[in-house]
Amino acid sequence: MPSNIQSFKMHLAIINGPNLNLLGIREPQIYGTMSFDDYSKQLELKFTNIKLSYFQSNIEGELIDYVQNCLAQKIDGILLNAGAYTHTSIALADAIAAVAIPTIEIHISNVMAREDFRKTSYIASKCIGTISGLGLMSYELAIQYFSANNNKQH
Ligand code: DQA
Repeated sequence: MPSNIQSFKMHLAIINGPNLNLLGIREPQIYGTMSFDDYSKQLELKFTNIKLSYFQSNIEGELIDYVQNCLAQKIDGILLNAGAYTHTSIALADAIAAVAIPTIEIHISNVMAREDFRKTSYIASKCIGTISGLGLMSYELAIQYFSANNNKQH
């Protein structure tokens, strides 16, 4: 495609926070046995009409930088699994509010059924909604939401 012609595919960013690089190995009884790399291949096959960009970091500032960078990338929607930063990071929540890109908070596990500290989310109030506890399917349900609501911003 010539570089001056814009793609009209919806472009979503999937952002994973700390320890989510260890999916498949990490506490499989809670998070399952599939790596995110393998899961993302399934997403690519399933959502051929959507451009998906992925980012994972264990570092809070890098996650904030990436959220800010979503503006330059003209991202239409963000799926954010902030991992434990969900429960601690005002700065990441501020970044979501600052870019004002529709965001869905994602959790693989049901955070409401776990320790009390997981029941607090600084992210939730900045998001359209939260999908929690449905395993990796939490991500694809969020993609389906964006797809059905045609949230293309640019
Ligand atoms: C998580 C839940 C968080 O409480 C935890 O710190 C994670 C993963 C989830 O996807 O279930 O790292 O966000």
